[in-house]
Amino acid sequence: MIPLKRRKVVQTVLCDREASKFPDVVIYILERKMGSSRKAFLTRLGRSKGFLVEESYSSDVTHVVAENNSGEEVKAWLQNQTCGGKSSGSVNLLDISWYTESMGKGSPILIEDRHRLKVDLQSNTDSPTFAIESYACQRRTPLKHHNASLTEALELLAQNAEFTDNEGRSVAFRRAAAVLKTLPRAVRRLDDLKGLPCLGEHSLRVIKEILEDGVSSEVESTRQSEQYKAMKVLTGIFGVGTKTAERWFREGIRSLADLKTRGGRLNREQQAGLDYYDDLNRPVSKAEAHAIGQIVGEAVRAVLPGAEITLTGGFRRGKEVGHDVDFLITHPEEGKEEGLMPKIVSWLETKGLLLYQKTTRNSYLESKDGPVRPSHNMDRFERCFSIFKLKRTPEVCGTSNQSAGQNDVTEGSDVRQQEVQSEPSDWRAVRVDLVVSPYSQFAFALLGWTGSKLFERELRRWAGQEKSMSLSSHVLYDRAQNRYLRASSEEEIFALLGLEYIPPSQRNA
Ligand code: UTP
Ligand code: MN
Repeated sequence: MIPLKRRKVVQTVLCDREASKFPDVVIYILERKMGSSRKAFLTRLGRSKGFLVEESYSSDVTHVVAENNSGEEVKAWLQNQTCGGKSSGSVNLLDISWYTESMGKGSPILIEDRHRLKVDLQSNTDSPTFAIESYACQRRTPLKHHNASLTEALELLAQNAEFTDNEGRSVAFRRAAAVLKTLPRAVRRLDDLKGLPCLGEHSLRVIKEILEDGVSSEVESTRQSEQYKAMKVLTGIFGVGTKTAERWFREGIRSLADLKTRGGRLNREQQAGLDYYDDLNRPVSKAEAHAIGQIVGEAVRAVLPGAEITLTGGFRRGKEVGHDVDFLITHPEEGKEEGLMPKIVSWLETKGLLLYQKTTRNSYLESKDGPVRPSHNMDRFERCFSIFKLKRTPEVCGTSNQSAGQNDVTEGSDVRQQEVQSEPSDWRAVRVDLVVSPYSQFAFALLGWTGSKLFERELRRWAGQEKSMSLSSHVLYDRAQNRYLRASSEEEIFALLGLEYIPPSQRNA
């Protein structure tokens, strides 16, 4: 994206920037070896499809497209263009195939390796080692990546910023971490990060320290700080958000033991959170998620034949463990899903499978509510927050015990209350979220509930800032056209948003 400040200047120079459908992609087609008539033809074609294709090269250009030129030739040409000292490193040097494929698609396609002109990185001190799009929803973010120690550090600072009610700072750290997750290899020097988006001064400082010293003093002192440790324990209680935990912290509460001795009121949800604290802070394995899927599937089919259930959340993105298990339930005949949740819940309760549940009704009414604000995350489906009582069978618990060992919670083992769970039990508690969606909203619900949270946030930001649309887990609304855009698959939603389709396994931003 073009930074706001620069956009203003650019607008006065180029009036067609306003009309462009993709203002953050500024294309220059290299005439060299192509000829002027072909360049003119390609330029007209691009403009007719809403692309911004510049007549001459300037510092605003983000994509240089060439045909029959080697990467080295284009790089040499680029270095001869003096354009206000802007590093040519932030420009994408692309083969014509990227351009023609984008024309075919009607929107700028995701840049793949095969589109890039190969330049010798060794001799190229000016170019960034990697070129990365600025919104996480424009990029592929795999689960396993090459910069775990850096992202873990940045995410700890993000979480601490959340704990201290600084959402802006938290999102900035998360965006920085997400950029590092997309990189094709480990960052070794600060120079590797030249030209990358979303890396603010603070994040770069932390990264630099870790690259040089192995650790960041800020991260380590945060990790050890009284507030961070207490907030981590307290927000680890199901039903306790940052606000409540902060209040307790100010009242001097540091641990679960403090909380218990203080007495005082806990709501039903928080009490359940405290009762099953250890279990709920132990990662849920994939095997456990599938076992729960079997049970919920059985419940759903028993109470409404033809209803469909889909595993969403982190497990749909390919995660091996999760903090909970998320399911989306629908029925192909619109309307059949109404009132389904209470039936599922009572089926489960009769079988003694629920330790806790709270069901909220569907409160979404398009005619009444209209499009949601883009940053609004809460959806209004019929929903059940529950704690499952999952029987430990040999297949299920093998993996779960392993993960418990890796991720032990130090605090609170005293709290796994003897009266709640007596002898080494043959079951464990698992957080499960059930959501029922009308069929017509299913694709939006699926996209919204697959995550990751940052990916979702970036999708909504992209929709709002780049497309004048509002995206929620219910609908997509086009503010310019004043209408809802329907979709029956995630692929369609990405297309409506002018984005390359990113599969769930690559949404781990
Ligand atoms: P989770 O919090 O369950 O995260 O939300 P996760 O990605 O599955 O990771 P775990 O569970 O920590 O392993 C799943 C998705 O559901 C959306 C979130 O935005 C996220 O994308 N969600 C969650 C909502 O849309 N609304 C909610 O109230 C809660
Ligand atoms: Mn989840």
